[in-house]
Amino acid sequence: PRAIILDCDPGQDDAVAILMALASPEALETLAITTVGGNVPLEKVTRNALQLAALAGRPDLPVHAGCGKPLLQPLVTAEEVHGESGLNGVELPPPASTPRTSHAVDAIIELVMARPAGTVTLCPTGPLTNIALAFAREPALAARIREIVLMGGARDLGNVTPAAEFNFYVDPEAARLVFESGVPITMFGLDVTHQVLVTEERVARIRGLGNRAGEAVAGFLDFYSRHDRERYGFAGGPLHDPCVIAHLLRPALFSGRSCHVAIDTESRLGRGRSLVDWWSVTGAVPNAMVMDQADATGFFELLYKLLGRLP
Ligand code: BDR
Ligand code: CA
Repeated sequence: PRAIILDCDPGQDDAVAILMALASPEALETLAITTVGGNVPLEKVTRNALQLAALAGRPDLPVHAGCGKPLLQPLVTAEEVHGESGLNGVELPPPASTPRTSHAVDAIIELVMARPAGTVTLCPTGPLTNIALAFAREPALAARIREIVLMGGARDLGNVTPAAEFNFYVDPEAARLVFESGVPITMFGLDVTHQVLVTEERVARIRGLGNRAGEAVAGFLDFYSRHDRERYGFAGGPLHDPCVIAHLLRPALFSGRSCHVAIDTESRLGRGRSLVDWWSVTGAVPNAMVMDQADATGFFELLYKLLGRLP
C-alpha cells in the first residue's frame, strides 16, 4: 500500500476523506492524521479527527495536533459552512483516545524521514500551515516526499473572495511556500471539486448502507449541503477533500493539466488566489498537476463501496 499522511481540518468533507482512506487499507497505509486550525479552531478539528478514527474502527491511529494559527495572520474559520463543532449534523461518541504528544510538524518530519525517500505522500485538505512549517524546519524533507496531493485553490473563481479559495485564503504564505517547495503537487481546486456534489439522492444512498458510518455520514452531509444549496444554488455540498483520496485510489476518475501555479500573497484583493498558468503564457516550468474534470458518478460508486466496508 501507498503510505500517506492526512493533514486536515475536519470539517465534514475532510471527514469523508478520512473515512475513505481508512476504508482502503489494502491500497493506502495511513500513517497518521495531523490537524491544523481551519474550518474550526484546532481543538475542535483534533477532537473531530479522533472521533472519526474511532468511527472507522481505528481508535489506534495516531492523531497529532498541529498549528492553530496561520503563519502571518489571524485564523479565519468557516462555521457558517461546517457548524460550530466543524462536524455539525452528527453526534459522535466522545473520543476514545487522546492526541499524541508530539506536534504535527514534528510528526510529519519524523514519519517521512524514517521511511525510504520518495515513499510518503502528503494529503493536505486544510490550510497548508503544518506542511510549510515542516519544510522550514527540516530542509531535507521536501526531497524525500513522493508527492503532495492537496485540496485547495481554484483555476477560476474563489469561494471566500472572488479570487481565493478557503484553504489558500486562510494561509496564503504557507500555500506559496508549498508551491515553491519543488515537491510534485497534484491540486484539486474548486473547478473540479464543484463537480462532485452530494445531492439528496446520494445522501439517501449513503444512509441506506445501513451501517454506523453510513448513518453518521448521511447526517453530517445533510447539514453540510444546506450551505452550498442556499448560498450558491448547488444541487448539494461539494465533496472537495475526498477528491484527494479518490484520486489516489482511482486516478482515472479525474483529469487535468500540468502547469505552473503561483500563489498571490501580495495584492489586497487577490490574497490567497492561485494563479494557474493553464495556457503556459509565462513559460514558467510546471509545478503542479491541476485537475479540472471529475467523473462524479464513478466517484460516488467508489464512495458507497468504501463506506459500506466500515463498521
Ligand atoms: C475547502 O475549505 C474547507 O471548508 C473544506 O473542508 C475544503 O477543504 C474548500 O474550499
Ligand atoms: Ca478541509
